[in-house]
Amino acid sequence: MCSVVGYVGHRQSCSVVLEGLSRLEYRGYDSAGFACIDTRTQQLSCAKAVGKLSSLTQQLQQNPIDGSVGIGHTRWATHGVASQANAHPHFDCFKTLSVVHNGIIENYQALKAELESKGHVFVSATDSEVIAHLFEQSLVDHGHCISKATTALVSQLHGAYACIIVMQNQPDLLIAIRKSSPLCIGFGTQEMFIASDVLAFAGKTDKVAFLPEQTYAFVKQDSVSVYTFNNEPVALSLQKLDVAWLATDKAGYEHYMLKEIYEQKSAIYKTITAACQNEDSLWHFANDQAKSLSFADDKQLKSLKILGCGTSWHAGRIGEFFFEEVAGLPTTAALASEFRYRTFFPSKNTLYCAISQSGETADTLEAVRFLHGQGCATTTITNVASSTLVRECGRYFLTHAGPEMAVASTKAFTTQVAALYWLANRIAYEQGTVTLSGYNASNDALLMAGELLENGLETYRSYIFQTVAPAYAACEKFIFIGRHITYPFALEAALKLKEIAYIFSQAYPAGELKHGPLALIDEDTPVCVFSHPDPIMYQKILSNAQEIKARKGRVLAFVFEGQTELIQLADHVFVFPIVHPHLSVVVMTGVMQLLMYAIAKLRGCDIDRPRNLAKSVTVE
Ligand code: F6R
Repeated sequence: MCSVVGYVGHRQSCSVVLEGLSRLEYRGYDSAGFACIDTRTQQLSCAKAVGKLSSLTQQLQQNPIDGSVGIGHTRWATHGVASQANAHPHFDCFKTLSVVHNGIIENYQALKAELESKGHVFVSATDSEVIAHLFEQSLVDHGHCISKATTALVSQLHGAYACIIVMQNQPDLLIAIRKSSPLCIGFGTQEMFIASDVLAFAGKTDKVAFLPEQTYAFVKQDSVSVYTFNNEPVALSLQKLDVAWLATDKAGYEHYMLKEIYEQKSAIYKTITAACQNEDSLWHFANDQAKSLSFADDKQLKSLKILGCGTSWHAGRIGEFFFEEVAGLPTTAALASEFRYRTFFPSKNTLYCAISQSGETADTLEAVRFLHGQGCATTTITNVASSTLVRECGRYFLTHAGPEMAVASTKAFTTQVAALYWLANRIAYEQGTVTLSGYNASNDALLMAGELLENGLETYRSYIFQTVAPAYAACEKFIFIGRHITYPFALEAALKLKEIAYIFSQAYPAGELKHGPLALIDEDTPVCVFSHPDPIMYQKILSNAQEIKARKGRVLAFVFEGQTELIQLADHVFVFPIVHPHLSVVVMTGVMQLLMYAIAKLRGCDIDRPRNLAKSVTVE
């Protein structure tokens, strides 16, 4: 989503803000902007550019502006197209104050109408611009008292927002405001950094404070004062920032996605090794104060509810099979965006587990907050130790995928699946349904599955690029089918193809084909069939594939050794070693992702930054 960055201090802000924005650019990249109180003119000055951050950087090189107080923004459009006018920062009528915003102002239309009736002139189609004009109006209404104006501002804004405001007549001040969307402040020596994510300033200071929910802060280079929305002072707790900024490059790969596909074996290894080394302290308390929780507590568990979005939800759907079949724990994975709008049936012995690569997904966070409101304990499986989910959930399990730069999730998905598999086996062991040697064997099998994933990449790389991808790259629609655990895997494959190759793709449980979707089958609509190592499941999938062939459909099959009939029937086929059904999806993952990558490449798509998308979805 959008990211906001602010700086006040002894340095010039432009390069600091631009560097922060570049570190967060994966969140949104359709336009960017920078505003500062220019040292030369003492005026609030601004530069904006449509497109990636590099366009703004170029513009600023040609027409430099700079000053010790600055704010910046990269945008992922919600209200209004990506354009110069809609790019942030936004201004009041007299260009004396400027704001950058991440989030959504839900009541902006009503506010805008009211402000227009008072003479304010809007220049953009965004919801965010209303903040600038409302603050301008609030300052007038409250005799230019900044505290009163800020309180008046937040009392009228509905929705989610993390914003930073700079004012021309307050050249040493930034105002940071937070409701629902994350915002953190880095404390330096005679300098302060504000950003949507600590990554923006990691390495520049090791002291950070996360702005509490519904608070605002007056930030100067040597002081920060924080208040609730009711104007009561809040004591900030400073934390040690142990996040390093690792400037990730593509390490010779053409795209981050390709690099990340190849990092999966090692990411699984790191995730499982870390889990095994911390066996007795696996579920860490997020506040790091209490002792870790023993698995003995999980003996009380009667069911598990997993929450997530997109790929993380797919990992959760795969996890259902692990927990039910290994640990005997009834498990459902719900879409976080839907969960809190359904009737909620509280259950004392249900464990709620939010899965999220970023730990910042608004839908997932809101589901967790809803559960907290219901008095339920939550845990999270996430890839980012400094994320909001880690701070807000009672316990957390970290995957060790490393930074995932491509928008399409690859190694985060595999590590989520690995984490769920490991947890299911560990809980089963604690509960006495799996022996120690069984549990150890499950870990070995998981690491072996990572090995097989990588072997698949080597075995099929040239077949994918030279034969399979060219055969399907021109298709405009695609169907995916699977059964049992390979059905949620089919959902993930369909999502990958949609998001990076812009091909309309739909996944069905194989048995559902004959209940309607079979009508779609023709020569132009290929079906990707994910087989299953279990012989009974295989026979059913084989029948489904035969039904497709009988209707002149094209079959691209992912099969397991010995599944001769399907191998012979398919137009194109990838064959994998037989593994436990639970690990079959891990083994197929690399080849599936590489195929989608190759198709997207042939179609000339922007693979790492697909159109309309952003890596971290911080609005609902
Ligand atoms: C797809 C993808 C998205 C994310 C989803 C949730 O490749 O990356 O579907 O999985 O937006 O994001 P996280 O896992 O950060 O909560």
